[in-house]
Amino acid sequence: MTDSHTKPVRKAVFPVAGLGTRFLPATKVMPKEMLPINDRPLIQHVFEEAREAGIEEFIFVTGRHKNMLEEHFDFQPELEETLESRGKHDMLEKIRDSEMGAGQLFLTRQPRPLGLGHAIWCAAKLIENEPFAVLLPDVLIQAPKGQGCLKQMVDVYGQNGGNVIAVEDVPKELTFKYGIVDTGGENAPAGSSGMAVKGLVEKPDPEKAPSTMSVIGRYILQPEVFDHLSAFETGAGGEIQLTDAMDKLIGKQPFTAMRFHGKSYDSGSRLGFIEANLAYGSEDDEIGEDVKRVICEMAAKLNKDSMNEAAE
Ligand code: G1P
Repeated sequence: MTDSHTKPVRKAVFPVAGLGTRFLPATKVMPKEMLPINDRPLIQHVFEEAREAGIEEFIFVTGRHKNMLEEHFDFQPELEETLESRGKHDMLEKIRDSEMGAGQLFLTRQPRPLGLGHAIWCAAKLIENEPFAVLLPDVLIQAPKGQGCLKQMVDVYGQNGGNVIAVEDVPKELTFKYGIVDTGGENAPAGSSGMAVKGLVEKPDPEKAPSTMSVIGRYILQPEVFDHLSAFETGAGGEIQLTDAMDKLIGKQPFTAMRFHGKSYDSGSRLGFIEANLAYGSEDDEIGEDVKRVICEMAAKLNKDSMNEAAE
């Protein structure tokens, strides 16, 4: 292992150029990353996960109609003054916590939707020659306090260096939706030093999938991945795939798949979004108990209705 594969991870890329068609008409004007999960937008949850893991530079790969994202993380003097003058100190604290400091936010654009690999390539100049993290804002991971998924990955990176991806099992019939990892049959639990990756396949049919371990959208990568992304080769779905470029690093650099402590939510789908809202809402200090009560009341009513239907 060379030194360059163990440098600290200081930068993170957030691909946020996507259209969000699954949430139309809600996302006709508003970026999907601004949809709220409990009291903060999706993008802020992922930003917080990255910040907790020690990330200092946040790179958004953005596109048309996405200005609201950069505004969200900016200093908002009128709002702060109003909250201050009204004595709303708790809220002021929350607002300040959602600001990025000077020199922390970087923007680049992906002009055309050519795939995740292409989106990441658009950040190449901002990454330069350092390892970096990638966080897909569609995926939220609720993890133990202070132990976000990326933080857990940084710990594994500290042991192994190289590249680290977070994985979790999906039902076999759904492998066609994800990047799937080949560990040659190795299996290791969350909290271990992970599994050596032997291969990666983007969206394989169930019968061709090397395992049911899926790439969930959290990556620590070495800058050499750009050597492969810059070839602009297309893969699954005719898109430039990050998975294909990562696959080419295997054997040349350490490459670890890691199970994590926590639960993932596909907030990019309407069902996952509602589920995430219930999960994050029920952990909220202020409304958590009420959210749980509402869930229980709804469940009881649904159960009663279905029993009545069965009796009819
Ligand atoms: C992307 C990646 C895929 C990964 C998935 C996780 O796919 O290409 O490897 O498993 O995110 O959400 P997408 O969901 O953008 O099609």
